[in-house]
Amino acid sequence: MPEHPCRRFHDRVALITGGAGGIGAATARRLAAEGAAVIVVDVSDAAGQQVADEIVRAGGQAEYRHGDVSSAAVWEELAGHVRERYGRLDVLHSNAYAVVVKPAHALAEEEWDRQLSVTLKASWLAVRAFAYLLGESRGSLVLTSSVHALVGLPGHPAYAAAKGALCAMGRQLAVEYGPAVRVNTVLPGPIMTAAWDRVDEGARADSAAQTVAKRFGEPAEVAAAVAFLASSDASYVTGATLVVDGGWSVVKDSS
Ligand SMILES: NC(=O)c1ccc[n+]([C@@H]2O[C@H](COP(=O)([O-])OP(=O)(O)OC[C@H]3O[C@@H](n4cnc5c(N)ncnc54)[C@H](O)[C@@H]3O)[C@@H](O)[C@H]2O)c1
Repeated sequence: MPEHPCRRFHDRVALITGGAGGIGAATARRLAAEGAAVIVVDVSDAAGQQVADEIVRAGGQAEYRHGDVSSAAVWEELAGHVRERYGRLDVLHSNAYAVVVKPAHALAEEEWDRQLSVTLKASWLAVRAFAYLLGESRGSLVLTSSVHALVGLPGHPAYAAAKGALCAMGRQLAVEYGPAVRVNTVLPGPIMTAAWDRVDEGARADSAAQTVAKRFGEPAEVAAAVAFLASSDASYVTGATLVVDGGWSVVKDSS
């Protein structure tokens, strides 16, 4: 993790959920490279600790905290910890998710509830726990939605419902907590992370071919967008949704 030439987060504190892998880990690395002290929250302890250790070895500031983001108690504990250890929070990237790929009629009630809890309710719990600290530091909240908020893809009813709701909630929170806190939502398209482990090669190739870029995105490319939205470079951007999908959502092959 070489130091980034931009130092937009010098002396800032950032908390990233789902920070043990993929987009969350890339965001943790990017914000740390730009000077932030980062708190990586995840349930995948070995991987989360590794992300934090890597950042520290490279000269950055990071710690790993175990936490299931769907639990209100976890958020209260995190808020207490952050208040005590850092006394501030400048950036909160709410990014963890859960998905069960099944058609709506085949989903069990617990599967619906779990996806909504981890993917949507967690962002509300995050705000409830951190609104005050974020407001005090005139901070920024970034939510990770998805292109599933824009188009239908078979087998993702609860995931799409949660991701669509995150866009609406992001706008709502921007109005409710502005001007002190800016709130924006990033909508990734196909990004090569562990989320694609369960998808076969053929389907992956199709997804890449369905972008204008003709490739998967890298987690770091979403992290760059998150860092922009969280930074003072986006000082006049709030309540916005930013699609980072290599053009996946704007291209249609009609040949
Ligand atoms: N990768 C893509 O193509 C893609 C596309 C659109 C949106 N997204 C979104 O990007 C975000 C990050 O996904 P990713 O692709 O980096 O996936 P990932 O699987 O690499 O990372 C997700 C992380 O969330 C953690 N997590 C899961 N449940 C948790 C819980 N209850 N509490 C705390 N942490 C938990 C996992 O352990 C994992 O480290 C998600 O919100 C996902 O919906 C990803």
